[in-house]
Amino acid sequence: MKDKVKIFDTTLRDGEQCPGATMTLDEKIRVARQLAKLNVDVIEAGFPISSDDDFESVKTISGEIQGPEIAGLCRCVEKDINRGWEALKNASNPRLHIFLATSPQHREFKFKKAQNEILKMAVEMTQYAASLCPNIEFSTEDAARTELSYLAEVVEAVIAAGATTVNVPDTVGYAMPWQYGETIAYLFKNVKNINDAVISTHCHNDLGLAVANSLSAVVNGARQVEVAINGLGERAGNCSLEEVVMAIKTRSDVINVETSINTKEIMPASKLIRQITGFAVAPNKAIVGDNAFRHEAGIHQHGMLANRTTYEIMSPDDIGIHPEDLGGGLVLGKHSGHHAFKKRLEELGYELNETEVNRALKQFKDLADKKKKVYDEDIRAIIDEVTNVGAKPTYTIDTLSYTSGNKQTPEATVKLKKGDELLEGKTSTGDGPVDAIFQAMNQITNIECELIDYSIRSVTSGREALGEVTVKVKSKEKIYSGVGASTDVIEASAKAYLNCINRIL
Ligand code: KIV
Ligand code: ZN
Repeated sequence: MKDKVKIFDTTLRDGEQCPGATMTLDEKIRVARQLAKLNVDVIEAGFPISSDDDFESVKTISGEIQGPEIAGLCRCVEKDINRGWEALKNASNPRLHIFLATSPQHREFKFKKAQNEILKMAVEMTQYAASLCPNIEFSTEDAARTELSYLAEVVEAVIAAGATTVNVPDTVGYAMPWQYGETIAYLFKNVKNINDAVISTHCHNDLGLAVANSLSAVVNGARQVEVAINGLGERAGNCSLEEVVMAIKTRSDVINVETSINTKEIMPASKLIRQITGFAVAPNKAIVGDNAFRHEAGIHQHGMLANRTTYEIMSPDDIGIHPEDLGGGLVLGKHSGHHAFKKRLEELGYELNETEVNRALKQFKDLADKKKKVYDEDIRAIIDEVTNVGAKPTYTIDTLSYTSGNKQTPEATVKLKKGDELLEGKTSTGDGPVDAIFQAMNQITNIECELIDYSIRSVTSGREALGEVTVKVKSKEKIYSGVGASTDVIEASAKAYLNCINRIL
């Protein structure tokens, strides 16, 4: 039997920590549910002391999600650990995750403390955390730049103090795969009680080596890998869940370990994160990029027709990619009713409440009226939008009208509904119709925000395809993103922008 490698997902903590990826409580719960479907071993739900919102989300996820262990991050101080435990204690299987930096750079510049002082803090706080919870993870932050003999000393001491998992992070993405593997091998050779804990990896991707480094650690004995969906995370991100899991699955002949991940949930998870954060993935991104399973060159297509193994090392089906995702598959028409639509949503893996189904069905009918062919991708875009606005958006669009031209100043009139109230905004300025509409919305809602990113993509092919717009805005130093879809790109832009405003509110 192969050894098992635990998958510890930190999308909701390290991933959510990166600028622009902030999620609401509802969104975090949706992500946590998807992580449970993926069957990850541990969900790191947040950093409870960092804000009341983080505390609430760790607490709610601890109470709601069954299956995976739920972890909360704490600095190596009592008040963090107490707050962390308060948030986690109702989970069926809680894990307190404490961290303290061990590298010379952090000891000297961040803490101004000597090696023995850091060691003492690590031991005392591990003992304290272990007095509250039997499941303790200790992270030696910036381990990859820590002196090996000192690192081994800290690892041995925290295991003796009660740590059941010891994480060896490459916090700044500095390690080379062979070197990081040697660090793990060194620990196995020099830490007497190493078999009393699980050794874990947590690699950042600053040099594009997070997945390679994590695999190198696994080959040298690590049995937990910390990951994020789509590689989300600080700076260049974390080790990507989908890449490391599929590497282990596809090359288990040479890696000789396995994970418990239900790989068919990978694509839905990737799409959920794209939709919630508004962070697109590159078309050529491994595993989940739009082109990852598309074959263009004639020679390749010929080979594929003869036998798929000529150019495919994994099956798209294993990742939850369906033929429709690759460009085919007419699914429903304008005469399809509530029942057929709901069934298709279930087949696509969505669990929507009745209000959301009805809202989505209305948009589907409108689209089917305009468009001859409605694909699963179109349905996904509708659902993204419907679920992205939350159960009760503060404002909804009633009417949009605008005029624009290359020799004309754009003008826009927008009517928004807030409950039963109908509010109107008008502008005769702007760089174009989209800008004019955004300004009219600012007028109505009194929201001041700066547009920092705007992108548009065609959901399927053809002139009548849905356009999906993603907008990012900055308001009071926080970044918000919103998504909107329509066959009319100006309407899609307005929906995406209003989605941001509703989130700010
Ligand atoms: O990158 C890092 O070192 C971390 C730790 C807190 C685990 O995120
Ligand atoms: Zn990290």
